[in-house]
Amino acid sequence: MRVPRALISGWLPLAAAQNSTLDLSWHPPNKTWINDLNQILNGSGTHGFYFNGSALPSTVPYGSYNWCNMPHVRREEYPKPSEENTLQYVEVIHRHHKRTPYASNTFPKESYRWDCNDEGLFYYGQPLNPAGNTSASAFWSVFTSDTNPFAPNGFNGTCQFPQISREGLDDSWQHGQDLFGVYHDLLGFLPNEIGDKVTYRVTNNVITSQVAGMLIDGMYSPESPTPLRIQPTGIDSLEPQYSCPAASSLYSSYGVGGTAANWTKHLTEAKPLYNSLDAISGVASDSTDWHKSFDHYYDNLSARQCHAKPLPCIINDPSKCVTQKQADTVYRLGQYEYSFIHRDSPQSLQAAVGSYGVWLAELAQNIRDFASGKSPVIYRHNVAHDGSVSRLLSILQVDVMVWVGMGSEVVFEVYSRGYGEKKYIRILWGGQILQSSSPTLGKVDMLDLDVFLDYIEGLVGSKASKVVDYCDS
Ligand SMILES: *[C@@H]1O[C@H](CO)[C@@H](O)[C@H](O)[C@H]1NC(C)=O
Ligand SMILES: *[C@@H]1O[C@H](CO)[C@@H](O)[C@H](O)[C@H]1NC(C)=O
Ligand SMILES: *[C@@H]1O[C@H](CO)[C@@H](O)[C@H](O)[C@H]1NC(C)=O
Ligand SMILES: *[C@@H]1O[C@H](CO)[C@@H](O)[C@H](O)[C@H]1NC(C)=O
Ligand SMILES: *[C@@H]1O[C@H](CO)[C@@H](O)[C@H](O)[C@H]1NC(C)=O
Ligand SMILES: *[C@@H]1O[C@H](CO)[C@@H](O)[C@H](O)[C@H]1NC(C)=O
Ligand SMILES: *[C@@H]1O[C@H](CO)[C@@H](O)[C@H](O)[C@H]1NC(C)=O
Ligand SMILES: *[C@@H]1O[C@H](CO)[C@@H](O)[C@H](O)[C@H]1NC(C)=O
Repeated sequence: MRVPRALISGWLPLAAAQNSTLDLSWHPPNKTWINDLNQILNGSGTHGFYFNGSALPSTVPYGSYNWCNMPHVRREEYPKPSEENTLQYVEVIHRHHKRTPYASNTFPKESYRWDCNDEGLFYYGQPLNPAGNTSASAFWSVFTSDTNPFAPNGFNGTCQFPQISREGLDDSWQHGQDLFGVYHDLLGFLPNEIGDKVTYRVTNNVITSQVAGMLIDGMYSPESPTPLRIQPTGIDSLEPQYSCPAASSLYSSYGVGGTAANWTKHLTEAKPLYNSLDAISGVASDSTDWHKSFDHYYDNLSARQCHAKPLPCIINDPSKCVTQKQADTVYRLGQYEYSFIHRDSPQSLQAAVGSYGVWLAELAQNIRDFASGKSPVIYRHNVAHDGSVSRLLSILQVDVMVWVGMGSEVVFEVYSRGYGEKKYIRILWGGQILQSSSPTLGKVDMLDLDVFLDYIEGLVGSKASKVVDYCDS
């Protein structure tokens, strides 16, 4: 099944030779410290990756990896294309910004509170279409009572997990400002009002709505209510939430939860580190969740450091704490795991196509609907998760995979060189042009749009038909 090219205005037949260059196979990522287990386990530091807060120190150039607030498109660093290219359509997807750390009642065993009185989660319904009575601007205020004998899970305090932290809300707003600075102010591409040309989409996890509200205000500060497009629970392609048993079992056959020797090697070699962390945190050494990957330790340690909170200590012995050296090793291991799961494993491409192919099919359709004039939307914005952005990068076969941090962003830009002319695509990752290990994509800088659409359709099928077949296989 080929891309229905007739829908793309100005399509010119491609030379037959171009078909033969369509390579849908997996290609390994670059060899770097991230996928070199010796450097992960026996090395030190974080190779310039930053974990200590949303703002980089002035000595660190913007664009560097910052787990707490990843680089995105910004006016100062935007790679402006040459004048002959006219921007026509943009679709953005990014991970939500930083949250308050959720701590289970096993970790940390400590007694400090985490309060969220510096923000409100507004939650209300209001008549629309037609408008009627209005709602008060009501928000949740978390409390516990002396009479309720049950202790809350995790930190005592006034946060309602999951919740974007106040700093994360500000990062979201700034992210909106930065995008507007490029696509409206610099390029004159975005309209002055949201109207019918700009849409926003969120997942079924409320934190993406918390981010979207701030981001939209950073872009448009609209006076009227803004719809957040969302798919029904259980089939959401953006999160992703739809069920794909074949992809789930493929992931667990080679990665987390599995027994493949090359996956378990780092877990086995990190046993002494696990023992020290367990002794401090009180996590049971037989807890599968905490020992099948470094995910939980990474998340729980980094969420503190992103908010300038100290690394945790043994509850009754404040002198025995997780050291920065141990935290750094956990951060290196996290990078290694993400690269292994999403890029190094030859099965990663199939697993990602199964579990994220539907969103890619929607992206391709959005571009076609724009190109054919069927849809007036020129800018689509998706707020998602690390599982979404990682799988997307897996399908795009990014040359160097990392654990996608807070606010991690991928932008698809469609250009033409005149009315009715051929269309080209550029993909930005972290605000810069994405380099793919796939020879079909290469450096995605003014790539023939048809080639990109053929790549997507070749992998996921028309209307994601290959995904459906695969998931049920
Ligand atoms: C190339 O693509 C065209 C259009 O989809 C198709 O008709 C043709 O058979 C393909 N040629 C080769 C060599 O695959
Ligand atoms: C990955 O390798 C390719 C090919 O050698 C190179 O062009 C690219 O810059 C490398 N990527 C990084 C991030 O170093
Ligand atoms: C780390 O160094 C130790 C001691 O030199 C060595 O035994 C081990 O194999 C190294 N780990 C890796 C993954 O290379
Ligand atoms: C974070 O800050 C600590 C000191 O608070 C420092 O030791 C560490 O090197 C920093 N780590 C990173 C990755 O910036
Ligand atoms: C911390 O660990 C818990 C498991 O107890 C996990 O559910 C949570 O996602 C982790 N992450 C954060 C940010 O706290
Ligand atoms: C929360 O507060 C209660 C009552 O002060 C205390 O018993 C409990 O240990 C605290 N929980 C945590 C996780 O700190
Ligand atoms: C507000 O609610 C009242 C009570 O149901 C109803 O009578 C009234 O028509 C509503 N007002 C508007 C403007 O819809
Ligand atoms: C892990 O081992 C399997 C089976 O030997 C192999 O096919 C795969 O390429 C290895 N994965 C990585 C990331 O090296």
